[in-house]
Amino acid sequence: MAELAGTATEHRDYSRIDVKPIAGALGAEIEGVDIASGVDDETFGEIHRAWLENHVVYFRDQNLTPAQHIDFAKRLGDIHPHLLNKGLEGYPEIVEVKKVPDQKLNNGGRWHSDQMYTPKPAKGTMLYSRELPPTGGDTMFSNLYLAYDALSDGLKKTLAGLKGVHNGDSRNHPSGLTRMERITAGIGTIPQVDPGDAQIISAHPLIRTHPETGRKAVYVGSHTESIEGWSAEESAPLLNYLKEHTHRPEFTCRVRWSLNMLTFWDNRCTQHFAVNDYQGHQRSIHKIMIQGDAPF
Ligand code: SIN
Repeated sequence: MAELAGTATEHRDYSRIDVKPIAGALGAEIEGVDIASGVDDETFGEIHRAWLENHVVYFRDQNLTPAQHIDFAKRLGDIHPHLLNKGLEGYPEIVEVKKVPDQKLNNGGRWHSDQMYTPKPAKGTMLYSRELPPTGGDTMFSNLYLAYDALSDGLKKTLAGLKGVHNGDSRNHPSGLTRMERITAGIGTIPQVDPGDAQIISAHPLIRTHPETGRKAVYVGSHTESIEGWSAEESAPLLNYLKEHTHRPEFTCRVRWSLNMLTFWDNRCTQHFAVNDYQGHQRSIHKIMIQGDAPF
């Protein structure tokens, strides 16, 4: 297990890339890499380390075809197909996260970690910007290690052994509608697929241990509906506290997009929130997720 401790400002000893932290809590810009030209193993090793140390990293000015985007994502592991969103024609690995000018709600406009409702949630997500509004449309991130570290010993003890139940298609959405209902109502733009028998409600430890760093992180998000074995009413006060706590300003950073930028984050220790502040404009992002393990 890699020995990683502290915050994003440590471990700056890179020889193949430049890593520039953007906030105290998490997030870094990586310079000196042209992904389309090929990334050798040593450089990729440094990118991987920068990702584990900073939790969300991005590269500006990348000219990637969908195939190159998929190939780069596969360096981190197998692709995690979205169980409910339909992929692009010819590239089922890529989901287009798109908001059109007359759409009011956006996708991802609430704090969450990707696919936490599946038995093996995505460990990483890689977004590539294709179309952006003139201003706005940033993505915010929070550091769930810091959220864990800041809890009292008493609450850490109470949470150990408890599981959160996460639902991929609840009405716990700003619209109050399920995914299919959002499409029918003209609120959503991502084509949906029927998940069939695939599991879209899963229970995972509320405090999870990162399999690569060994650090503990709070694992809740907008998909978390209850605590396993507790009623919804009993669960709500504690879950609401944790949901608010996990995105305290000092645990967050804000990524400002530019066109052709590739951002990727670690879902095992972060939450993210797509800011919906660009009404009347279009935004399109290509999204790929990477398969993770069952949280423990
Ligand atoms: C998402 O929640 O995966 C989308 C984030 C974004 O569009 O910024």
